[in-house]
Amino acid sequence: MIHRISLKSGKYSFTAEEYESILDAAIRAGVPFNYGCSNGNCGLCKAQILSGEVSQLRKHDFVISEADKIQSYALMCSTACKSDLLIDASVAATTSDIPVQELRVKVRKIDEISSDLAIITLQVPRSARLRFMAGQYMRVYDDQQRSHEYAIASCPCDEKHIEFHVRKLDGDAFSNMVFKQLRVGDWLNIQGPYGDFVLDDSSDAPMVMIAFDTGFAAIKSLLEHTTAQEKEREIYLYWLACGSEGLYLDNLCRSWDDALDELHYVPLHMQRGINEILDSEYEGMCHIEDKITLSLHHIEHLKNAEVYLVSPEPVAKLVEQLLVGKGIQQERIHHEIIRGNPNLKCIHPEAKI
Ligand code: FES
Repeated sequence: MIHRISLKSGKYSFTAEEYESILDAAIRAGVPFNYGCSNGNCGLCKAQILSGEVSQLRKHDFVISEADKIQSYALMCSTACKSDLLIDASVAATTSDIPVQELRVKVRKIDEISSDLAIITLQVPRSARLRFMAGQYMRVYDDQQRSHEYAIASCPCDEKHIEFHVRKLDGDAFSNMVFKQLRVGDWLNIQGPYGDFVLDDSSDAPMVMIAFDTGFAAIKSLLEHTTAQEKEREIYLYWLACGSEGLYLDNLCRSWDDALDELHYVPLHMQRGINEILDSEYEGMCHIEDKITLSLHHIEHLKNAEVYLVSPEPVAKLVEQLLVGKGIQQERIHHEIIRGNPNLKCIHPEAKI
């Protein structure tokens, strides 16, 4: 049977089956519960049951004191619901509530989407879980133990698998290793999560998400997290991509657009390749400006929207200028640089935009 679990704060509510732990159901629903081991050892997931009936799912080593038992405290990783519940549980309010973790992870899948773009999926060991917030990034280590930053492209609701989008770059040790040497079953060391480019879960405002090239990775994580939650927020997804294979997950975006009434996908495809766009200096920026200007009519009614933008800095300045011109408030525009492609950090520093 399915039951509804509500948090005392009123901020979160989700459903759970009687056979699963409350913690698993919360993670699946995108609720950022505080937890550690997820197997009854650390006590970090302890919460108070304010109303409703629960059952113990498994034995745990962490000892709940008699005083806490009287006040109906239980471990969410070891407890299931038997009715609708009201609970007082602690949730991660900010990224600083989530510890930096170091994990050795196994390569589960490598999808070479095009000649220079691979999606790698890493598997977290059975005894561990990776806690992160949608939009954050990890450090991945190559065989020389040099670190490379990649945005997590997967949803925190699947904390066993981590997805990165890797663009092959000349002279970049990690991306070349991915394309030449990396095989399914290999192991990688990762560290994180890092970054503050995360959603404001307290807001119900519509969202505009804008990705440039592999900036789509962080946006994909934000979108999957949003759709895992039971909130219905209107979302406009713009993907600004270069070259014939730039919209490398176009079919996925179109399937979201078909399946979700609240999501509207606007691909902004530029024929020229990314290097050409980057090399053409001011002309390239004009091209980007034209594309964005022509498509902003979609969001003219969204003055109160929260904007999440992943792009090189000068593209961000241009987009911010255009959005503010359309009445969107500057403080509602959240920007993140593209991880995994250091070349893009310095696109046209001299461009007059
Ligand atoms: S998460 Fe460690 S005891 Fe529940």
